[in-house]
Amino acid sequence: MSPAFERRLADADAAARELRTLRDLLRWAVSRFECAGIAYGHGTDNPRDEAVALLLWALHLPPDPLDPWLDARLPRAERRAVAELVERRIASRVPAAYLTGEAWLRGMRFACDARALVPRSLIAEALDEVLPQWLELHPRAPSWPAAILDLCTGGGSLAILAADRFPDAQVVGADLSADALALAATNRESHGLQQRVELVQGDLFAPLRAHRFDLILCNPPYVNEASMQALPPEFRAEPRAALAGGRDGMDLVRRIIADAPAHLADEGVLLLEIGHEAAHFEAAFPELEFHYLPVTAGERMLVLVEAAQLAAAAARLGTTAARRARRPAGAARKPRPPSARRTAARPPGRRP
Ligand SMILES: C[S@@+](CC[C@H](N)C(=O)[O-])C[C@H]1O[C@@H](n2cnc3c(N)ncnc32)[C@H](O)[C@@H]1O
Repeated sequence: MSPAFERRLADADAAARELRTLRDLLRWAVSRFECAGIAYGHGTDNPRDEAVALLLWALHLPPDPLDPWLDARLPRAERRAVAELVERRIASRVPAAYLTGEAWLRGMRFACDARALVPRSLIAEALDEVLPQWLELHPRAPSWPAAILDLCTGGGSLAILAADRFPDAQVVGADLSADALALAATNRESHGLQQRVELVQGDLFAPLRAHRFDLILCNPPYVNEASMQALPPEFRAEPRAALAGGRDGMDLVRRIIADAPAHLADEGVLLLEIGHEAAHFEAAFPELEFHYLPVTAGERMLVLVEAAQLAAAAARLGTTAARRARRPAGAARKPRPPSARRTAARPPGRRP
C-alpha cells in the first residue's frame, strides 16, 4: 500500500467517524471527486452520479435512485466501507466498474473487469430508441432480424442486450481477445443465454466464414492516435486493443466496411459506433451513403448502413477506380457534395 493511499485511508476513517447519514456521505464523496479531478465516461459523466453508483453498490442497495435512503443513518462499518471505496476510486484512477466488478447498461447487469471495455456502447440506447423508429420508416419482414452479429463483442453486453430485445433471434458475438470472450461467456451464462448467443474468436469476420446476418452491431476500437495520447488514466486502464483505431481511428472500420457486404443479408443493416470520429469517418468513406442515428450523447456518433448502400459504394469505388485508371495523369476528380450522400435518420418530431 502506498503512503499516499495510507493517508487517504486515514481520511476515510475520519469521514466514517464524523459523517452520519447517506446524504452526508454523498456530499463528502462529491467533494472528494471534485477536488481530486477524476475522469468520468464509464457509465456516468459527473461526480454526483459516480458517487451514487459507488454508494449503492457498497451498501448492497438496488441500482435505483438513492433518494429514498438519503436520510438513513448508517452504522460505522458501512460508513467506513463507503469512504474506503471512494478513496480507492481516487487513488487507483480505474473506472468504478472495475472496482465493483459490475456495470449496468439499459437495466441489465454485466460482470465487468479489465479483460474488456466497461460496457457503455451508444448502440445499447439505439437498440431501444432510434433503431425501432428507423425500422418504422424502413420496414423489414416481421421475422427480422433472425440472425444478429455483435462484432467486437468484448464482454458481450451488446450481444446479450440484442438477444434480450430480439427474443426470436440467434446471436453471435465475435472478438479477437480470448480474455474478453471468457468474460462474455460469464455474462452469457448469468443471463441464461447459452442456447441463443454463440461466442467465436478471431480477427473481425474471419471466424464467421460465409455466414450472413440481418443485423450487425459493431462498437470497434475507433479512438484516433492523437486522442489516445491524451487519454486520462481511467481509460488507459482499459485494454488498448479495445480503443486504439490507428492514426485517424479508422483502421478497423475500413476493414469492417470493406468486408461487411459479404456478411449481410439482402435487407441487412450494419449499426456502427464511431464516437467523436465523424469527420474521420466521412473523410475515409467519400463514396458511401449512410444514415446517422442520433442518440443522447450526440447526433453523429452512430452510423447505420444498409446492405444495398454498402454494395452501391463498392460498385462506385469499382467504377471510380476504372475511371481513374483511364484518366490522363493530373486530371482532378470532381468531389461530391456531402449532403448528397448522407441522410439524417431522425424520425419527424422526435428528439432523443
Ligand atoms: C470498443 S471495444 C467494444 C466491446 C463491446 N462491444 C462494448 O461495446 O462494450 C472493441 C473490441 O474489439 C475487439 N477487437 C480489437 N481488434 C479486433 C479484431 N481485429 N477482430 C475482432 N475483435 C477485435 C477488442 O478486443 C474489444 O473487445
